[in-house]
Amino acid sequence: MSPHSVVRNSWYVAGLSKDFPKETLSGHVIAKRPIVIWRTKDGDIAAFDDRCSHKRFPLSKGRLMPDGTLECAYHGLRYDTSGKCVMIPSHPTGPISPQAKVIGFPVKEQDGLVWIWPGDPAPATSATSPTVASPSSWRRARSTATAT
Ligand code: FES
Repeated sequence: MSPHSVVRNSWYVAGLSKDFPKETLSGHVIAKRPIVIWRTKDGDIAAFDDRCSHKRFPLSKGRLMPDGTLECAYHGLRYDTSGKCVMIPSHPTGPISPQAKVIGFPVKEQDGLVWIWPGDPAPATSATSPTVASPSSWRRARSTATAT
């Protein structure tokens, strides 16, 4: 493993729950991966690759539409919360290629934190839920470390 490689198949904290108000896009780099994250109208967290499938423009610079889709700021492709392109403004009635999509990432919200799995989504379903050590376990770890 290269000293510069990154573990992606793991849970990472993207931020505090309060950092994600409804319908506000935010761009992040987690495990060296650009990711756009937002809270939907329903209160769910959505996250996917922050690069449009068309010309790689950062989707976090786009806007959320009234129907809940994310519109790219460059040419206006719209994505649903799964990352699938559902509208191409220059071809509003034409077929949409199944390749017009962006990778979605598993997310969890618990303990006041938003967690994201920036790797292969399949192992995330069987992975242990992310946990934050309680302050008592931190004190216990610190006292053990200083006693040795
Ligand atoms: S780069 Fe996003 S629509 Fe063209």
